[in-house]
Amino acid sequence: MNEPSLRKFYAWFTALGLLVGLLVIAGYYKDEFREWKTYQTQFRQEELRRATTPQQKLLAENTPVQIRQILLPELHRVDRCTTCHLAVDDPSYGGYAQPLAYHPLSDQHPFEKFGCTVCHRGQGRATTVADAHGNVPHWDEPMLPLRYIQASCGQCHQAADNPAAPELARGQQLFDDSGCRGCHKLNGVGGIIGPELDKVGARRSPEWLRQHFLAPSSVTPGSAMPPQKFAETNLEAITLFMLSLTGEPVPGYYASMKVIPSSSQGRRLFEQKGCIACHAVGGVGGKIGPALDDVGLRRKPEWMIQHFRNPQAVSPGTVMPQFGFTESEARALTDFLVHLRDQKVALSLPALMNPVERGRAAFRKYGCIGCHGPDGKGGVPNPNAKTAEQVPGLLYVADGYTKAELKARILDGQKEITALDPKRPPPPLYMPAWRGTINDAEVDDLVAYLFSLKPKGDDVGF
Ligand code: HEC
Ligand code: HEC
Ligand code: HEC
Ligand code: HEC
Ligand code: HEC
Ligand code: HEC
Repeated sequence: MNEPSLRKFYAWFTALGLLVGLLVIAGYYKDEFREWKTYQTQFRQEELRRATTPQQKLLAENTPVQIRQILLPELHRVDRCTTCHLAVDDPSYGGYAQPLAYHPLSDQHPFEKFGCTVCHRGQGRATTVADAHGNVPHWDEPMLPLRYIQASCGQCHQAADNPAAPELARGQQLFDDSGCRGCHKLNGVGGIIGPELDKVGARRSPEWLRQHFLAPSSVTPGSAMPPQKFAETNLEAITLFMLSLTGEPVPGYYASMKVIPSSSQGRRLFEQKGCIACHAVGGVGGKIGPALDDVGLRRKPEWMIQHFRNPQAVSPGTVMPQFGFTESEARALTDFLVHLRDQKVALSLPALMNPVERGRAAFRKYGCIGCHGPDGKGGVPNPNAKTAEQVPGLLYVADGYTKAELKARILDGQKEITALDPKRPPPPLYMPAWRGTINDAEVDDLVAYLFSLKPKGDDVGF
């Protein structure tokens, strides 16, 4: 090998060496200045500043700078959020700027058991802000905006009457009251015109949902879903409720607190278990046990819970049955009874004895409102339908049908769709057949309710 070519090699080697050196330095700096290290350094400085004794100081100085993670095998998650959110379980960090602030819910849901993404979504394993918060391509679970965070509660807790998630409870209430079930199934109950909603929260974003409620056909061209006239707060609540429907199963322990004990749950139990047979409330009910209006003044909550667990233990020889309530049910009932006085609850039990009232409940339960309007008054658009391009109102069905005919009409639905103008597309909404969905007794109640709708003194006799 001659001199010049060797020299050429040297030049290459020098260049390569420099390059490697640069890369090492760049790598070092990149590692040193990872965003999470910045936050951990901040955290350490804050701990140092707070340290008053030499031991505390030593402890603070030795706070390791490293990735932190919570392993959640049952939930199939690894959450590294605490790599930056370092003080979530330290109340003394309340009010600090993110990511160093204390987290309000840590006592009810210990983070070592729950992690973070089960409530917030986002990408648990990631260690940069953008990736972790999940607003990146190829990650289909971006973090829930905080204003929709109560959607997460619905995965593990029943949405209705959840005192800890009032927005979610309101969303559920709106869903039940707005007739969505007329067209959509949820948990197997409802109509067939629209898609099932059990997993809709996993496939649709908040923005999509909002837009779709306001103008369904602007996101799904030709949609048969009527635009929903929600005020802003209700629009937010129903969107939140939709987001809660992910259909993701939660394993045992995490679902153990399905129903958060509440007064309204207690009331339902009180009605279902027939307590009224032995106890009067507001002057209605049996006399075998004491009237319960003032029981909150006579008995302490602990006594009541114990009494529900095992009546004999606190009232030997009592005829009050042991119902086998769970802890949570006993708490809910107690909550209900303690507040009976202030709430002046009118129990709906007498109402449930009345077929018209039961029918009204069924009309709501199956979402007939969604097509026939609130109280069956009509007004829902159905382009090219024969009755004023609307789904007909039901106020006057008592004039056109016998009870048996009406029952058949509900069970059998509509045989064929009549278009006003045969040249235009057929009307999008039709009367579904409810046979197999609604049981016989409920249809009788519905008929009683529909017959009751006819305005009084309106017997013009055409
Ligand atoms: C690399 C550091 C880092 C990681 C990892 C990280 N965060 Fe954050 N987080 C931040 C910073 C910084 C802020 C405040 C600025 C912002 O909102 O972007 C923040 C803010 C938040 C907020 C408040 C948002 C708001 O709208 O006010 C939530 C909620 C949150 N993070 C949750 C999470 C969850 C859940 C994870 C894990 C999946 C996570 N973070 C992982 C740094 C991080
Ligand atoms: C049980 C559900 C749940 C879990 C688990 C959970 N969070 Fe939250 N998080 C919430 C709720 C609800 C809020 C809103 C609190 C509020 O508005 O007062 C919230 C708020 C936040 C905020 C914003 C606080 C603010 O007011 O700016 C951050 C940041 C945050 N969480 C991060 C985390 C991190 C990190 C973890 C895991 C260590 C975590 N969360 C675990 C439910 C949860
Ligand atoms: C992954 C499932 C899960 C999610 C999501 C979840 N929780 Fe919980 N929650 C639980 C479990 C399990 C308990 C019982 C914890 C225990 O006692 O060990 C609980 C307990 C509670 C309690 C205390 C109930 C009582 O009376 O003892 C409240 C209140 C609560 N959760 C509210 C919420 C709210 C609000 C949200 C949404 C921000 C939420 N939870 C999200 C599973 C969950
Ligand atoms: C008259 C029938 C009807 C009523 C009432 C109705 N919808 Fe719909 N909905 C549909 C039809 C049809 C579709 C499918 C076409 C589309 O995407 O708009 C749909 C689609 C949806 C979707 C999108 C589902 C998906 O995964 O694409 C959501 C979410 C939804 N409806 C929620 C609701 C809610 C909540 C209510 C009650 C406030 C409601 N709907 C009332 C007929 C109805
Ligand atoms: C998906 C929309 C939709 C839902 C949900 C729906 N209906 Fe209908 N219903 C219609 C349409 C459209 C008609 C009109 C059919 C026609 O013109 O032939 C109709 C007709 C009727 C009629 C006959 C009215 C008349 O004047 O002849 C009755 C009664 C009725 N529906 C009851 C109910 C009840 C009860 C429920 C709830 C269990 C219900 N409907 C749910 C769309 C619906
Ligand atoms: C078969 C009749 C019977 C039924 C059904 C019954 N109870 Fe009782 N209950 C009694 C009798 C008798 C007493 C009085 C003796 C005692 O304290 O156990 C009583 C006592 C009570 C007390 C204490 C009242 C006081 O002033 O000390 C409460 C609270 C109570 N019952 C609640 C309920 C609830 C809630 C239900 C339904 C889940 C229920 N009971 C069902 C018979 C009944």
